Formats: sequence, C-alpha cells, structure tokens
Amino acid sequence: MTAPPATRPNLGVTALGTYVPERVVPNSDFEARMDTNADWIESRTGIRERRFAAPEQYTSDVGVLAVRDMLARDPGALKDVDAVICATVSPDALMPSTAALIAMQVGLTGAAAFDLSTACSGFVYGLSVAQGLILAGTARRVLVVGAEALSKIVDQNDRNTAILFGDGAGAAVVGPVPDGYGFQDFIMGADGNGGSSLYLRCVAPNLPGGFAMGDSVGMNGREVFKFAVRVLGDSGTQVLAKSGLSSADVDWVIPHQANVRIIEAAMERFGLPMTKTIVNLDRYGNTSSATVPLVLHEGVRDGRIKDGQQLLFIAFGGGLSWVAGTMKWWAGTPSLQPEQRQAAGVPG
Ligand code: ACO
Repeated sequence: MTAPPATRPNLGVTALGTYVPERVVPNSDFEARMDTNADWIESRTGIRERRFAAPEQYTSDVGVLAVRDMLARDPGALKDVDAVICATVSPDALMPSTAALIAMQVGLTGAAAFDLSTACSGFVYGLSVAQGLILAGTARRVLVVGAEALSKIVDQNDRNTAILFGDGAGAAVVGPVPDGYGFQDFIMGADGNGGSSLYLRCVAPNLPGGFAMGDSVGMNGREVFKFAVRVLGDSGTQVLAKSGLSSADVDWVIPHQANVRIIEAAMERFGLPMTKTIVNLDRYGNTSSATVPLVLHEGVRDGRIKDGQQLLFIAFGGGLSWVAGTMKWWAGTPSLQPEQRQAAGVPG
C-alpha cells in the first residue's frame, strides 16, 4: 500500500532582523584620496553614503547583531531552528564558517551551519536552500543570514570598486506559514564564464584559463552592468511565469541594491513604475548579500509591505550568479510588523 502523498507545507519568512554599522561614509570622503567626485558617484550609481564596520567589527559580528535585532522584537524567533546558513562574500575565515560563529553566539550551537558563496545573490539563494532543507525533512526551521564587511576586502584607493560597497547584515528565519502565504517559486543560476567580471583571489592565483586575480575585489563594471540588466529581467520574468503570475500581480519588487540605474532597467523590463520597488542604496550602497534583507526589512518596518502582498525578489552577483523568487508576504509574527503599530501597542 502506498502512503497518501504528504501535503507540501507552506514555507516562508517567520522572523526578520537587520543591522548596519554606525559609521556613515559620505561620497565626499572619497574625493580626498582618489580621482572622483561626489556628484559623479551619485549620478552614476544613486549612492550618497554607505556604512563601514568599525576596525574590530567583522562579518560574524554584524551578522550576530542582525539576529539580535530580530530577537529584541521576537524573543522566540529561533525556536526549532536547526540549520544556519550565512550568505557572505567577506567571511571572517574560510574555516570555521561564519555561520558556525554566528550560531555559537545566538544560542544555536549544535545546529547545522554553513556558508553560501554566491556574492550578492546569496541571501535569496539561501532562502531557496532553506526551503529545500525543510521540505527534505532535514531541518524544521532555518536561519538565513546575509552579512558582509566588504570595506575590509575592497581596496579603498580603487575608484572602480571603493565607491560602491558598504557593510551590513540581515537575518531571516524560514519556517512554516499559514495557507496562502509564503514562497511560491525560485529560479537560480550561475555562469562561471563571467568569473573574471567580479572576483577576489583566495587560494589559486588565476581563474581557469589564466585570468590573474588580485587580493582585493576586482570588477569589470560595464560587463557586470550589462549582465545584471539582462539576468534581472530574464529571471524575474521566468519566475513570474513559473508561478502563473504576471508583473501586474506584483505589489513589490525587492531587488539587490547595486546601482539605481540597474533597478530602473529591470522595472522598465517588467513594465512597472519605480513606485513598486524599494530602494535604499542611496543610504547603504551595495552591501552584497545584505541588500535584500535590508530593503525588505525597511519596507516591512515602515508599513509599505503588507500582509498578503505579492513580492518578487531579484538579485545577481559574483559567479556570475542570479536568483529570482516569488512570495506572498505573511506579517503574522512580531518582527514582521511595522514599528509604528508595535509602538502604538496595536496587536498584529
Ligand atoms: N569617479 C569618477 N569617474 C569615474 C569613476 C569614479 N569612481 N569610475 C569610472 N569613472 C570614469 C571612467 O574612467 C570613464 O571615463 P571616460 O569616459 O573618460 O573613459 C567614465 O567615468 C565612465 O566609466 P564607465 O565605467 O563607463 O561608467 P559607468 O557608467 O559604467 O559606471 C559603474 C560605472 C558605476 C561601476 C557601473 O558600471 C556599475 O554600477 N556597474 C555594475 C557594478 C555592480 O553592480 N557591481 C556589484 C556586483 S554585485 C556583487 O556580487 C558584489
């Protein structure tokens, strides 16, 4: 006798927290040490300022603070979490994993823990991997952290890269949500042929084929720009079709924050106005794997993202890699509710 097919549980985000370091670095700070100017940076990227971690603050530290932000508003948020994924391109070390270091400091010692390396796609990749672990019965809930201390791995005298990146972290718990809510579909991809467009040397001096890497982040900005515009549009369109949706069904596009011109191009491709997306790169720059949780949490905190709304996640990054996801937002737990409602004592 065959068992009846198990009902696939609805899975989504059940808690959220973020952290950005205190030190604000305006565009004007770069004028003194390189051939650039604040207006060029703002007009070509949309970035006005970013945050830099303190000298003694590393990726695990900002990741832990994002988890603590979540716990401050929802002390029970980590119940049943038995796996931790840290998406990062600036890990404290290659081993131990940054995920294990974060888990140790937030009371999750013993949970499975591993880092995920797809650069700026990492957080949304992590949501999909978390969903897979739960559906496979390997984990009940999964903590996904996107955390970066990019200021430590970027050459602060290289005008190609220094102006773009900032530090920060976001943390989400993936777990069961009520019927009608949660993740619908994901599309993930990568193409190592684009490796030489965005790279950071670790062990090998060269990429396969001989391209020599440096000891700080290297980037071919024009190539990454063209790639980003193409894959955000393609993967966003594909995941909407996979979910039986059109762009008219989307309430909010939650994009990776690299360059406002890239976001504008993606929105144009979807035929959606900029009022349907959330941009915070003006204040935080590109925080790689932390951009998506930072922008998601901003929309949740200020009440723009509401219960039951249709979200479309789109991100791209080193690899080169890309990811898109669809999700019906559930606002049923304390850390997923607008701050003003909590402050006013209005129950969720
Ligand atoms: N300040 C002043 N001038 C500059 C600077 C600077 N910081 N950088 C470049 N320029 C000059 C160039 O020398 C060039 O001058 P020229 O016309 O005399 O030759 C001119 O500005 C235009 O240069 P472009 O490289 O064509 O500038 P572009 O408009 O492409 O903007 C940028 C450059 C902002 C890097 C853009 O290409 C971009 O955002 N690319 C995507 C980068 C990205 O998303 N990276 C993150 C990937 S995510 C991850 O996984 C980490």
